[in-house]
Amino acid sequence: MLSLEAFAHYRLGVEPLDTEHWEILDSLRQLSDSRSRKEDLRIVEHIVDLWSKHAMTEERTMKSMQYPYAEWHIKEHSEMMGRFRALKERIVRSSEYHDRSWIASELQVIVCQHIDTHDMQIHQFIKQRNSQSGDSHGN
Ligand SMILES: [Fe+2]
Ligand SMILES: [Fe+2]
Repeated sequence: MLSLEAFAHYRLGVEPLDTEHWEILDSLRQLSDSRSRKEDLRIVEHIVDLWSKHAMTEERTMKSMQYPYAEWHIKEHSEMMGRFRALKERIVRSSEYHDRSWIASELQVIVCQHIDTHDMQIHQFIKQRNSQSGDSHGN
């Protein structure tokens, strides 16, 4: 499961995006303590709720900073909602429920791959913009 070092790795340097990422990643960790399908579904639904709220915040942030890849990024957010729905369906329907480790790992892949690729590009964009404007405080 995600270590504290991994959390630090996903830091964009933009609030409230970092706090929201933290909440989502922290909820992912709770899946390993879950003891039932009902509990799994409750946690996954909570993560999806956090995610959809976060996606709106992030989309507003990208627009306000005139981020050039916002449209592509927003499309990726809606594709992720489809992947979350498919995962929830699998939890409900899975007959091989004795091994539940795939739930946390699949959800982690969906979320972390997105943050690591698409969201980190926002970080790169800010860094580049700050260096062009001579702002040495950007990191
Ligand atoms: Fe994103
Ligand atoms: Fe994000």
